[in-house]
Amino acid sequence: MKSNSTLYLIEPESLPERKVHREKFAERQLELISRRGAKGPSRLLLKSLNFDLTGKALVFGDLKAYLAHALKMLFPEVEVTYHTFEAYELSQIDRVSKFNSDSPIQRSFSSALPGETSEYQTIFLGMPSAGDKRYFASLLHESYDLLKSKGKIYAAVDKRGDRWLRDNLEKLYGSVSVHHQTRTGIVFVARKSSKKTVKTKSFKRQFGCELWKQPVVIESRPGNFSHGELDEGTLALSECSDLNPTDKIIDLGCGNGVIGIGASKVLREGCALLVDSNIRSVRQARENVIRNEAEENCFCLVGKDLACIPDRSIDRVLTNPPYFGNFSISELFIREAERVLKPGGFLYLVTKAPEETYSILEEFFPESDIQPKNRRNYTVFEVQKN
Ligand SMILES: C[S@@+](CC[C@H](N)C(=O)[O-])C[C@H]1O[C@@H](n2cnc3c(N)ncnc32)[C@H](O)[C@@H]1O
Repeated sequence: MKSNSTLYLIEPESLPERKVHREKFAERQLELISRRGAKGPSRLLLKSLNFDLTGKALVFGDLKAYLAHALKMLFPEVEVTYHTFEAYELSQIDRVSKFNSDSPIQRSFSSALPGETSEYQTIFLGMPSAGDKRYFASLLHESYDLLKSKGKIYAAVDKRGDRWLRDNLEKLYGSVSVHHQTRTGIVFVARKSSKKTVKTKSFKRQFGCELWKQPVVIESRPGNFSHGELDEGTLALSECSDLNPTDKIIDLGCGNGVIGIGASKVLREGCALLVDSNIRSVRQARENVIRNEAEENCFCLVGKDLACIPDRSIDRVLTNPPYFGNFSISELFIREAERVLKPGGFLYLVTKAPEETYSILEEFFPESDIQPKNRRNYTVFEVQKN
C-alpha cells in the first residue's frame, strides 16, 4: 500500500479559500479532502481498506468514482475500472478525475458490466439499503462470472443489521464473512471458490399491454422502472394524452420504452424519440422497439437531458418523472420540455405529487393553461405552451 496519498473531491487550487473536511482512511495512509466528507457505502469501503490488492479491480453499484481513485492511489499497480449505468454520473467522474489525474482509472459506461469472464481479482459493490433487491440480485449474478477463481468481492450496504446482502452473497459464493462494521453499515467479503459453478440466471420478464388501443409487448429486467408489469401511472399518462398522426414526440425518461413505443404506432407520419439517462434502460427500450417492429419511427437516445434537441422543435413531450432528488428531476424535465416544445405543443406529465408539480409547472409555463386530470389515483397534467 502506498503511503501518504491525498484524494481531492474539490478543486485543490480552491483550498486556501475554503472550509474543508479532512479525513484519514486506509490506516491513515490516505487523506480525503472534501466539502462534506465521504458518505454511504463508499465511506464504508474506504474505512475498511486494510488489505492488499493486486490484479484488476472493478468498482460499481452505489459507489462513487472517488473510491476507484482511492484504490488506484493506494495500489498504483492495480488496474481499477469504475462502472456506471447513469449518464448523469459521467460529469461527476470527470470532475473527480480532473482533481486526481495522477491516479488514472478506467471508466465504463455500458449496458452490461465491463470485462470478460474471470477478468477481475477484486470486485467492490455498494448497495443502498432501500435499493431494488431484484436489481442487486441480478448485479451480483452478473459480476460473479467476471471474478477470477479465488478472487474476492467486497460488498457494502448502509444498514448495520442487513440480512439480504449477506444471504444473497452466501447463496452465490457458499460462504461470506463480515469484513467491517460500523453504526451505519456493514462490509461483507466473499471468495469465489474454484469448485462451485453457478448457473447463469435470466432475470428478464415479458408482458403485453394496450396503449392508445395498440398492442405492445415489453421485455424488462431488474433495474428498469416497473419491471415485469405496466405501471398504473404510465397507463394513466397514455389515457390522458392525445396524439396526432403527424406529431414528433419525446418520451422523456422512457425506461423500457413502453410509452414511446405505444405512441409510435399511432404516429403514422410522425415519430417518437425515447430518452433516458440509464444506459441499461435505453438498451432495453431499443430491444423493445425491435420486438414491436417500430424501428421506422421510434428512436432511442441515452442522455441526462435534451441538450441535443433544438428549441421549439417537438409537438408533444410525455413523461412520468421519478420522485427522487426532491423534485429536481421533475424540474429538469419540465424546463427541458418547455424549451423543446413548439409554440402550441403539449406537455403531458403524470405524478402522485400534484401540488409540488403544479408549482414547478407554473414557474416554467407562467402563461399557459395547466389542466390536471385525475386518473387511477394519479394526476396527469396537460400543459399547452404559448
Ligand atoms: C418513473 S420512470 C418512468 C419510465 C417509463 N417512462 C414508464 O413510465 O414506464 C422514470 C425514468 O426517468 C429516468 N431518468 C431519471 N433521471 C433522468 C434524467 N436526468 N434524464 C433522463 N432520464 C432520466 C429513469 O432512469 C427512469 O427510467
